Amino acid sequence: MDNVIVVASGKGGTGKSTVCVCLSVALVKQGKKVLLIDCDCGMRGLDIMLDMEQDILFDASDAVCGNCSFNEAIYKSKNNENLYLLAAPFDTENELSPQVFKQFVDSVKNDFDFVIIDSPAGIGSGFITAATPADRALIVTNAEPTSVRGGVKVRRILESLGLYDIRLIINRFDRKVFNQLGFYNDLDDVIDELQTRLIALVPFDIRISVIMQRGIAGLNWSAASSVFDCLARRLEGQRVPLAYRG
Ligand SMILES: Nc1ncnc2c1ncn2[C@@H]1O[C@H](COP(=O)(O)OP(=O)(O)O)[C@@H](O)[C@H]1O
Ligand SMILES: [Mg+2]
Repeated sequence: MDNVIVVASGKGGTGKSTVCVCLSVALVKQGKKVLLIDCDCGMRGLDIMLDMEQDILFDASDAVCGNCSFNEAIYKSKNNENLYLLAAPFDTENELSPQVFKQFVDSVKNDFDFVIIDSPAGIGSGFITAATPADRALIVTNAEPTSVRGGVKVRRILESLGLYDIRLIINRFDRKVFNQLGFYNDLDDVIDELQTRLIALVPFDIRISVIMQRGIAGLNWSAASSVFDCLARRLEGQRVPLAYRG
């Protein structure tokens, strides 16, 4: 099964890490075993979002440098049964090489139903490392031109790496603001520009931000959860309609 998914965007702040956490929690709720990998070297945040900051002793670079085994750097979430985290290095000096990272992902992916990889902003080496082991990609964009342009660039790079199974998530959507800004006539314009099939539309919801910053996604999850439940089902190949249509 093609179970390694990279979450990418090009532009920072579109909601990649938020999508990674919410999607992983939704998959776990549906009985899946998930490994979440933070590839945002120097800017990791998933440990905070999952309330695992105090648990992390080793990160991915420790495993690469031989300070520990890769399995010792994989931590089980205390709040989400079947959710595991591999943290990114705390500083940028310890960036992972695409080959070493792919070797690692290949060696563990059969132990999990899904491996979700959170990528850094930009289209540099960190992004290439994050994307190299992936079978599939989710591009996260906001419905505004700079973000859409980042998504287009990222899609081209993914395709140049041989990755064609790509779906689009439009995040932080607010119909009123979208209409007022008037950058696009409709969401179809955004989708057309990205030439990527939409798999989820996520509303702007301030509660999502609060839940992420407090690290309580698995404990107190209600905001927009149906959107992520639906996304998880769609990724599993189920034919379910979008939970939110804007
Ligand atoms: N659907 C949403 N509604 C409201 N705020 C959101 C939503 N998605 C993400 N955010 C907020 O946007 C900011 C950037 O999200 P983050 O996931 O860190 O982006 P990235 O990983 O792409 O840099 C955070 O403050 C996050 O809480
Ligand atoms: Mg992030």
